[in-house]
Amino acid sequence: VACSASNSATEGGAPPAKDAPPAGTPVTRAAAATAGTTGIGDPYFPGDGNGGYDVGHYSLTLAYEPKSKHLSGTAAIDAKAVQDLSQFNLDLHGFTVSSVNVNGAPARFQRKGDELTVFTNLKDKAAFKVAVAYAGTPDPVRESPNLGSYGFIPTADGSFVTSEPNGAKTWFPGNDHPADKATFDFRLTVPAGVTAIANGELAGAPQTKDGKTTFVWRETNPMTTYLATMTTGKFAVRTGVSKSGIPVYAATDPRFNGILNNLYEQSSKITDYWATVFGPYPFKSTGGVVDDYAAGYALENQTKPIYGGFEPDPGIIAHELAHQWFGNSLSIRRWRDLWLNEGFATYAEWLWSEHSGHGTAQQSFNDAYAGATDEIWKYPPGETRPNDLFNASVYVRGGMTLHALRLAIGDADFFALIKKWAADNRYGNVTTDQFIALAEKISGKQLDGLFDAWLFKPAKPSKPSAG
Ligand code: ARG
Ligand code: ZN
Repeated sequence: VACSASNSATEGGAPPAKDAPPAGTPVTRAAAATAGTTGIGDPYFPGDGNGGYDVGHYSLTLAYEPKSKHLSGTAAIDAKAVQDLSQFNLDLHGFTVSSVNVNGAPARFQRKGDELTVFTNLKDKAAFKVAVAYAGTPDPVRESPNLGSYGFIPTADGSFVTSEPNGAKTWFPGNDHPADKATFDFRLTVPAGVTAIANGELAGAPQTKDGKTTFVWRETNPMTTYLATMTTGKFAVRTGVSKSGIPVYAATDPRFNGILNNLYEQSSKITDYWATVFGPYPFKSTGGVVDDYAAGYALENQTKPIYGGFEPDPGIIAHELAHQWFGNSLSIRRWRDLWLNEGFATYAEWLWSEHSGHGTAQQSFNDAYAGATDEIWKYPPGETRPNDLFNASVYVRGGMTLHALRLAIGDADFFALIKKWAADNRYGNVTTDQFIALAEKISGKQLDGLFDAWLFKPAKPSKPSAG
């Protein structure tokens, strides 16, 4: 359901840029030919993301007031045109936009639903900078039938920010789709005493002035918009370095202070272990955040997974940290391939169980196979359903797919494949077809039948023998 933005369908930003049509002019044929599209081309979510440009970097300078739930600031975006652009779109839900500048000059803009259209005159391949000044009360997606609440969610003491699949637009304007990854920096100002947590690493100590503290965070590796966070509130924080030398940042809401050390130790140890199984850790720090907002789920926010209102057990920490490789470093190009995130993270839980002496991956597979409902067998995880993205099949049958593959190609090829998959596609975007092609190349086997049965048929595959 499209909620209309506060200044929906209004115009702003006076002096029309040269060559931009005056307000209210119907789009001409010539303008239409060079207009960026209002979606990036994912048939599952036609309005998500945008076409015609590619974002390289987001610089978010934002202030948040937990008491009034007021968010305000500027998003400065470095992008590159991939066609001539008479206009382009950003995704933004709610807020009042006060100005849009392109390359330092005011540009005319228009709001309609969750689309912010910027009128401009850019040549194909031109690098450009767009700065959007905006303010308002964030309006997250609340209690959606199958995704719960997500986006920028105000909490009693701050904010819980988890944006998968398309909630980034509830707190900053951008190209809100995983196919367009970018680096980020965050300059976040909150009342003194409140901690602001974003992705990546702190650039220097937080500065307090006139009762406000500013935290500067930088994520220097490419990141999808849904993994960006600005979680704020009262937090206890522990920092350090893992045994293998990765900086660790763990934070807990006061209600969970008793588990800060456990969160820190587990996150540190599990990140180190995954680096031995999946290959080098892709980012510059790791960690975790436990907030008291009862989301009912966790999210693998880049460098700092967040757990919504519960004490995470090692299995879920192993899941969220496996996503740092599968989902975060390697991101899906289309939502249809979500099993490449969730199937891998579920299989990682089984590998973690085995590593920590709680039953082999084979036993986890046996249990999953025996316990799978008809619903799972009817839902092929290789074709994620847009209205039921996070169905158990995408997780459990996705994980079973990897175990069936392991049995078919043997341990040596399977673990070589997983490492090469992560190495070859580091920081990039991937598809299921690419994974199947690499599996066939490494094993020298024809695997269409296996993937067809496990990923694409709405039926229960026969149980592979355990070798
Ligand atoms: N990727 C998350 C996980 O499996 C799940 C996110 C669910 N998102 C949502 N809006 N409910 O760890
Ligand atoms: Zn997951």
